[in-house]
Amino acid sequence: MSKTFRALIVEENPDGTPDRYIGERNTDELPAGDVLIRVTHSGLNYKDALSASIHKGITRTYPHTPGLDASGIVDESNNAEFKPGDRVLVTGYDLGMNTAGGFGEYIRVPAEWVVPLPEALSLREGMILGTAGFTAALAIYRLERHGLTPKSGSVLVTGATGGVGSMGVMMLARSGYHVVASTGKLDELDYLRELGAAEVIHRDQINDNSDKPLLTRRWAGAIDTVGGRPLARLLAAMDYEGGIAVCGNVAGVDLSTTVYPFILRGAALIGINSATTPMPLRRELWNRIATEWKNELLEEMAHDVTLEQIDDEIERILRGEQRGRVVLEHRG
Ligand SMILES: NC(=O)c1ccc[n+]([C@@H]2O[C@H](COP(=O)([O-])OP(=O)(O)OC[C@H]3O[C@@H](n4cnc5c(N)ncnc54)[C@H](OP(=O)(O)O)[C@@H]3O)[C@@H](O)[C@H]2O)c1
Repeated sequence: MSKTFRALIVEENPDGTPDRYIGERNTDELPAGDVLIRVTHSGLNYKDALSASIHKGITRTYPHTPGLDASGIVDESNNAEFKPGDRVLVTGYDLGMNTAGGFGEYIRVPAEWVVPLPEALSLREGMILGTAGFTAALAIYRLERHGLTPKSGSVLVTGATGGVGSMGVMMLARSGYHVVASTGKLDELDYLRELGAAEVIHRDQINDNSDKPLLTRRWAGAIDTVGGRPLARLLAAMDYEGGIAVCGNVAGVDLSTTVYPFILRGAALIGINSATTPMPLRRELWNRIATEWKNELLEEMAHDVTLEQIDDEIERILRGEQRGRVVLEHRG
C-alpha cells in the first residue's frame, strides 16, 4: 500500500545552485527494492552536505533526497531475512547518493544493503554512530590488520572534532591507544579530552611549511579525514611500518609526496571506503561497535535536529564547523 511521507528535497536551480525544501513524496516514487523501511533517524555526513549542494560527482540527477544513513523499522519486505517490525540500519552503498536517502521518512533498498540493528543499540544510537562510526571502526580494523597495537606508539586523528574524527578518537582511546587529536578548534579541547585524546594539537602543527621529504618520526598510525597537504606532511612524519587509514578529503584531493616515507620507513597508506564494505565484515564491525565501542560518550557527540533544522546543519558542516554528529529524528 502506498504511503505519503515528508522528505528534504534538493532541486537544482537554473544557475546550478541548490534549492532545498521539505516536500511530500509517495512510497510509489521510491526505487524498486526488497525492503521498504520507515526511517526513524538519519545522520548528517560531509558527503550528504555535498549532495545537498548540487555535486554531480556524488548525485547525478536532481531533484534528490540525500541521507547516506538511515535507521528504522521494516515496513514491507519481500526478502525472507527481514520482516515487518524488524529494527534495521543502512549506511553507504548508494543510499543518499543516487538512491533517495535517509532525509526522507521512507527508503526502499535492496536486502543486501540492510543490517539488522544490533540488540545493544537503539535506533538513535545507530545513527549517532552512522557512517562516521562505521568508518572509524573500519579504519581501526584495517590499521590493526596492518600491525598497529596500543604498544606501537602515538596514533594521530585529523579533523578530530568532525564526525569520523570524534568517533576515531573515542574508539581508539577505548581500545587503549595513545591518541593525539589534531583540530582547527582549540576551543574544543575539553570535548576531545573527554572523548579520550591524550594530547590535542592544532592542525597547523601537522601541516608544517617545509617541503622536507621526511620529518622526525612521530606517528605509529593515523586516521586521516582531511587529505590534501596535511596528509602529505603527516606521511613524512610516519614512524617505521606506520599506517595511515585515509578516509577523507575536506582539506583537498591532491596528494603530493616523495617515495621516501614508503621506501625508507615502510609507511603504508591504507584506503578506507566504508560505502562498499562487504556485508560479512560490515555485520562483524557493527556487532563490535555495539559492544566494544558503545558507551555514554556517544551522547557527548550527538546533536539532535528535526527535518526543519537540517538545512542550517548542512551549511555548518560545509564550513567545517560541526562538532561530533548531527542526528536527524523523523517525527512523522
Ligand atoms: N572513505 C569513507 O568511507 C568515508 C566515510 C565517511 C566520511 N568520509 C570523508 O571523511 C571526511 C570527514 O567526514 P565527516 O562526515 O566526519 O565530516 P565533518 O564532520 O565535517 O568533519 C570534518 C572535520 O575536518 C576538519 N576540517 C574541516 N575543514 C578542514 C580543512 N580545510 N582543513 C583541515 N581540516 C578541516 C574539521 O575538524 P577540526 O576543526 O577538528 O580540525 C571538521 O570538523 C569527509 O571528506 C568525508 O567525505 C569518508
